[in-house]
Amino acid sequence: MLQLTKEEEEMLNGKRGEGIARAMEVIVKVAESLDAPRLQPIRHAHVSGVSYGTIGEAGASFLEEIASLGARVSVPASVNPIGYDPESPNGKGILKIDRKFMEGQRRILKALGRMGFTLTLTCTPYYTDFLYSLNLSQGDSVAWGESSAVAYANTVLGLKTNREGGPLALMAAITGRTYYSGLHVDENRIPDTEYVYNEPVDEAVLGVISEYLAEKHESERPPLVRTRRRPREYEVREFAAALGAAGSIAMAVLPGITPLPRRPSISHRDEIDHAWVKSRLSDLKPTVRPDVIFIGCPHTSYEELAIINKEIQDKVKVPVLITLSRDVYIKAKETGLIESLESKGVTFLRGTCLIISKTRELAVATNSYKAYFYLSKKSNIKEVGLQPLPLLMRMARGEEL
Ligand code: F3S
Repeated sequence: MLQLTKEEEEMLNGKRGEGIARAMEVIVKVAESLDAPRLQPIRHAHVSGVSYGTIGEAGASFLEEIASLGARVSVPASVNPIGYDPESPNGKGILKIDRKFMEGQRRILKALGRMGFTLTLTCTPYYTDFLYSLNLSQGDSVAWGESSAVAYANTVLGLKTNREGGPLALMAAITGRTYYSGLHVDENRIPDTEYVYNEPVDEAVLGVISEYLAEKHESERPPLVRTRRRPREYEVREFAAALGAAGSIAMAVLPGITPLPRRPSISHRDEIDHAWVKSRLSDLKPTVRPDVIFIGCPHTSYEELAIINKEIQDKVKVPVLITLSRDVYIKAKETGLIESLESKGVTFLRGTCLIISKTRELAVATNSYKAYFYLSKKSNIKEVGLQPLPLLMRMARGEEL
């Protein structure tokens, strides 16, 4: 049976205001339905589903209503990208945003600001100064709503979070609590199944592996994934995003990367078939002739920008669009990376991405399985193809693949 502390009882009974009581009711209902013994205090919340393109009028009105009840965040809290770059709403000719969309988005930002959210506008909160300033440590519980960030937090940072829906992460931000269940429980983070892939990996291969896991992995525990070489940081970020897109896995264990509370004891092993991966990769249309090469789903890191800058020596032959957080943009601006890339014809959009925005008709090549997954369902995207970063760079240089 769910035990609440005195403070939590007071929140639920409305002694701390109506907004917090409404939020607590939701958290308690979810905790009870999962048979959680208690609530889990959190150190940070990250809320997804804040683009007007995703939540529309209904979502904007819901956020305004919660804010007008006096609800305020009780832990540091950040938010996902929105439907356009606030500093370039027309998206440098790539996005197609109308007045209604902008007005709806402004209402959402205003409601979030009133509630005390820090408007980071990124799906990579882990690259922001805001998160660094919190000094979070491995083992800390948070409540994150962005599936790619959830998998990254659990797999790489050792933070504990379940995959929350946007509204539940919002309620967690207001109460400072989530339910003590799932990946907040140490034992549930220890894998019992290992998957081995003995061929070379890159982010496209890892995307296909995430599909394999979505279909085959049945254990409630995270899968342990052993690859021939340790993936690079941006490849792991893409893998985390792919796990969230292809299925509902919120954590994987990567040897040498994932912090664990104790050594796993593996009871089941599976070798991932190379021929199947190869055939699946060719299904993902790597030969698309793109109008734009899209990098930055999830938002690009500083290190990835440096790699791209090194790979592109001259003016690009195919337009390259990079989406990223304002924080990473500012850091890269300070070191001259932005200027250098812009001089070669690279375009940047901050605080948004092609998936949650409205774009003009485009054929897209990307190194993100998640972007591939969602863009291939969008009506104004003519075609989309998946390629790892080195091949995208060759495409950008105008080389035949
Ligand atoms: Fe981020 Fe947009 Fe991809 S929010 S994870 S860049 S779909």
